[in-house]
Amino acid sequence: MATLWSSRYAQRTQRMGRSMIRELLELTTRPDIISFAGGLPAPELFPVARCQEAACRTLTEHGSTALQYGPTEGFLPLRQFICDRISRYGIAANPANVMITNGSQQALDLIGKLLLNPGDRVLVEEPTYLGALQAWNAYQAEYVSVPIDDDGLRTDLLESALRIGPKFMYVLPNFQNPGGTTLSESRRKALVRLSNKYGIPIVEDDPYGALRFEGEHIRPLVALDVDYQRSAGLNGHSFMEGNVIYLGTLSKTLAPGLRLGWVVAPFDVVEQFVMAKQGADLHTSNFTQMLAYEVIKDGFFDEHIREIRRVYRERRDLMLDAMERYFPEGCSWTRPAGGLFLWVRVPGWIDTAAMLPEAVEHCVAYVPGSAFYVNPLRGCNTMRLNFSNARPDQIETGIRRLGDLLKAKLAGQHTEVTAHA
Ligand SMILES: Cc1ncc(COP(=O)(O)O)c(C=O)c1O
Repeated sequence: MATLWSSRYAQRTQRMGRSMIRELLELTTRPDIISFAGGLPAPELFPVARCQEAACRTLTEHGSTALQYGPTEGFLPLRQFICDRISRYGIAANPANVMITNGSQQALDLIGKLLLNPGDRVLVEEPTYLGALQAWNAYQAEYVSVPIDDDGLRTDLLESALRIGPKFMYVLPNFQNPGGTTLSESRRKALVRLSNKYGIPIVEDDPYGALRFEGEHIRPLVALDVDYQRSAGLNGHSFMEGNVIYLGTLSKTLAPGLRLGWVVAPFDVVEQFVMAKQGADLHTSNFTQMLAYEVIKDGFFDEHIREIRRVYRERRDLMLDAMERYFPEGCSWTRPAGGLFLWVRVPGWIDTAAMLPEAVEHCVAYVPGSAFYVNPLRGCNTMRLNFSNARPDQIETGIRRLGDLLKAKLAGQHTEVTAHA
């Protein structure tokens, strides 16, 4: 029934519709369905007992601060902890460069609030993180897409896209969501060079960087940008004054329910973020920030991340192995060196969005790849599979079900073709 409200929504809400895919994916929460659709961490790895102790300690020792309003920038010891950790990757930030957010999703929303006028273009990878598109659609953004391949963003195609004049580039260099790909070092350097050449800044979203299963960590764009600027004599300082805003989160390394993420940026940009966040929620919960800090300080975090990597690596290998055995010829997939996802390409005529209801009937689910494209008519024969959340036995069964469905589709096409022959 139409209410008085229905004629009063702002224009921007026209871009905020619920997608059909989301409706379908709601079905996948049924207990009989093995879902590779969500981006969920393995819940059995959440350090529940340690969180319980930390909550008690926080309330006992710092209860009056934890339950009080706090600074918009966030809890200082947590911001210092983040600086210490990212220094391992060559990012020289101090707490004044860091603002805590309600997950990195809030950071994406605040970026839209700060930077996007209606009609402004954002350069995104194709495919890219759906949540970023959702955040910026609400600010009436337009997009310029540049495809990715096994080495991440195709920097060889970047220059013509940059000439269109996007406001900024949004890049996921490590174990991309949804592609599972990692941007090679040479492409990172090319990207930073082009960013400086065209004066177009970068938002580097790195929720998965700590979850590398093999190979060497590659320097983040934010650090390479500082190197570049120094070598070009553009900026003599080691602190962050460059063209990159870097986003991180505790969602994949501790627990997404805590809703703790962060923005690392030049100080003057952080000041703008602080003003934008004040209007949104004043600050992120003091209690959860203090609780998380209690949990991760004292060396526990490294140990915990090692365990997550071990388990996810095992699950990735199980999924890859099961796909080799059960998927029909004509399918290909990425082999991510970390993170939570892999990306599958099926024969061109199979529409994975149209196939999803059948998959749900077979009690298995995935996200159709078109959801991650700015133009939903692209990527129709692709899908994203999550390997972190399902248990090993579910991975085997779920991939077998999906493989059987794909084989039946291929056999069906064969029958159709011979029937028409
Ligand atoms: C690339 C990317 N960015 C941001 C987020 C949001 O994470 P959170 O808000 O939980 O920190 C996700 C979550 O899956 C993601 O994959």
